[in-house]
This record gives sequence, C-alpha cells and structure tokens, in this order.
Amino acid sequence: MSLTERDLKVIWHPYTQMKTASPPIGIVRGEGARLFDEQGKKYIDAVSSWWVNIHGHAHPYIAKKVSEQLHKLEHVIFAGFTHEGAVELAERLLAILPDNQQKAFYSDNGSTAIEVAIKMCLQYWLNKGDQRTKIIAFNNAYHGDTFGAMAVSGRSAFTKAFDSLLFDVEFIDTPNAGNIEELKSQITAIKTETACFIFEPLVQGSSGMLMYEAEYLNQLMAHCRQENVLMIDDEVFTGFGRTGKPFACDHLQVQPDIMCFSKGLTGGTMALGLTTCTQHIYDAFLSDDRLKTLFHGHSFTANPIACASALASLDLFLEPETAANISRIEAAHAKFAAKIKHHPKIKTVRQTGTIVAMEWETGDNTSYFSSLRDKLYQYFLAEGIILRPLGNIIYILPPYCITNAELDYVYSKIEQALEEI
Ligand SMILES: Cc1ncc(COP(=O)(O)O)c(C=O)c1O
Repeated sequence: MSLTERDLKVIWHPYTQMKTASPPIGIVRGEGARLFDEQGKKYIDAVSSWWVNIHGHAHPYIAKKVSEQLHKLEHVIFAGFTHEGAVELAERLLAILPDNQQKAFYSDNGSTAIEVAIKMCLQYWLNKGDQRTKIIAFNNAYHGDTFGAMAVSGRSAFTKAFDSLLFDVEFIDTPNAGNIEELKSQITAIKTETACFIFEPLVQGSSGMLMYEAEYLNQLMAHCRQENVLMIDDEVFTGFGRTGKPFACDHLQVQPDIMCFSKGLTGGTMALGLTTCTQHIYDAFLSDDRLKTLFHGHSFTANPIACASALASLDLFLEPETAANISRIEAAHAKFAAKIKHHPKIKTVRQTGTIVAMEWETGDNTSYFSSLRDKLYQYFLAEGIILRPLGNIIYILPPYCITNAELDYVYSKIEQALEEI
C-alpha cells in the first residue's frame, strides 16, 4: 500500500476538508529546496514548507548538530532545570535582537509564543495593580490557531466556528499616510484600558501577504510608547531574514516590548517557540507573592533537540553566504515582479525581501475557497512546484539556498500559468 493510501485510513490533516481534498502526496526525502515523493517525483518547495525552512531540507549541518545532541540529552523538564542549548540560544539571540530585549521565554510553536506574549502583557498590568484587558490588533491579522492567538487574529473563515467564544479585540487598519493620525486617535481613546498592541510587522502573511510601510508602523509604535501601550512584535513569520533584514524590526527605529519567534528559528527542522521581553516586563513578575508568577509552560518547552537545531540554524544564518543569498533572491524577485506586473491577469504584485506575492485577476471571487486557488495549486504541483495560493494570491518565499535555475523555473511556470489558466 502506498503512503498516501495508508494515510487516508488513519490521518486527519490540518486546514483540509477531508471529504473533498485531493489525497496527500507522500514525501520521502528532502534536499536543498527540493522534496521527493514516493514515486521519485521532484518538487521545488517554493513556500519553504509553511514558511519554516530557511536553509534547505535535511541540511547536513543541522542534521549533524541535532544528531550529536540526541546522544547527549534529548529532553529535560524546564522548570527547576536548565541546559546548555537553551542558555546559549537565548544569549546569542538576545545579542542580535533590539537591545531592550533582555529575557527569553521558551515554548514550542508560533501560536504558543503568541499566547505567552499576550499573557505576559495582561498579567504585567495585573501585577502592577492596573486591570487592563483590551488588546489592539490589525484587521486581517493572523497570529495562530490556539484560542488567544485566534482572538487577536482577524475574524475569518478560520475562526468562524469559534467567534462567539473569542475575547473582544479592538481591530484597527494597518497604517498608511492617509490614516495614521486617525489610528493614533483611536489608540489614545482606549489607552487606559489597553494591555497591548500586537502586530505582524510589514507583512500580514496568512491574510494574503498584505504589505505596509515601515515608516507608518514606526509612527504608530512611537505613539504606543508615548501612550504607555505595550507592543508585541510577532516575528513568527518575518523573523530570520524573510523581509531582507535579519528581523522585520530591523526596518524600524522604535523597539517593541515583546517579540515572538518560531518557524525559521530552528531552520524549520524542529518545533520551537520563543517569546522575548524587556527587563521592565520581566521585573513586574518578580515578587514574594507567588500569584504574580507567569504560570505558563509546555511539556516540550525549550526542548534540547530543538535548541540544538536552532543554534545550528543560527550558525548558518550568520554566515555571509546566507545574507548574499537573501539579497540574490530579493533582486531576482524584483526583476520578476517588474516583468509581470503589467500582465492583464495580474492585479497587483508586491514584494518585501524574499517574499513576492501576486494577485490574480478574478473579478469578484477573491475568496480563500475560490476554485482558481485549487486550479493553480494543482497546476504547479503537476509542474513539480509547491506553491500554496491564498485564495487568488500566489506567493513565493523559498529557502535561501534555492538556486537561480530553480527560481527561474518557478518564475517561468508562473508565466506559463498566466497564459494557460
Ligand atoms: C505571523 C504568525 N504568527 C503566528 C503564527 C502561528 O504559528 P504556528 O503555526 O507555529 O502556531 C503564524 C503561522 O503561520 C504566523 O504567520
């Protein structure tokens, strides 16, 4: 029996209507930007496997470091104990984050990194004797699928079944030259009830790679600082080079209070979440009153294998070759965007760093569930490319090791699709 047949008997997949979805493809091996299925067919992974993979699949250096760690220490409870990988990773990451980030709190995925950040903010105010429960987030935001992360995400098809159970959030538009003053007034009006403002910096990934300018985010952040509203910078997707700089906050002057990481943190090899914060936030939890403790943790918090993978990924990330690859992809994307932007079937093309997204002209049907989405997805799979359109939006965000030839192949197949679909 094939992997696909065995899978269908026992597995329920994420984001998948199991009644109508095509059977899953059994992947048996990965190398560089390529994945291979059980029939030996090759796919270029143009979406970095849910945006996590930054150095390529089955990277030998990460594999070696993970393997070494497996023989030393696979896991240890992280309350009352610590280990070398967790300490070294926190030391090395805090050294390259904005200098106000002083403490690292581990969890095990992007959504949990967000839950931790939200709890830090809510309890920060409580611990200081100020009951602030309102959270400000952007319209169309996506911060994860656990309940707190869902609550601070825009209401959508993803949240619909649970909307009545999600706590109230003040949703505002992403900033631009036209609305920045209005957004500042909105924040000022609710500042005394507001625990925090959470945002995806520069790119709202899941809602369709919607992009906005650093300049206005910076102004909004400066206003939050002035109004004493804590800021959570969700770098789960944008962290580790995606926006062209190591972190999206490197495009900003104002420093966030809290930052969240996952995805590229381990190079996409292991599940790990990380929430960092300022000394000021950390200090608000120091008390002889045990109730002021941050009561949050997961069985696999700071798993040593995941930390080893993150350290190996960081070694690779800091090599000059990675920065050169990021610049190379940025330049190639820019050339491709310029080439196709006037095509009659392209509504808009946008780019931030290694992310390029194009909106396919579809009249009114831009839904996540549009039939065009499935058509495009299957078309590219048949051509040996993994692209996972968000509704009518196709985006490319490859592992940084993707070759020029592989990138050119992806671009050429998109151009071909523009003619054929
Ligand atoms: C900006 C952002 N935050 C949080 C998450 C949630 O991460 P995870 O899927 O690891 O729970 C995602 C996932 O796509 C994301 O894009």
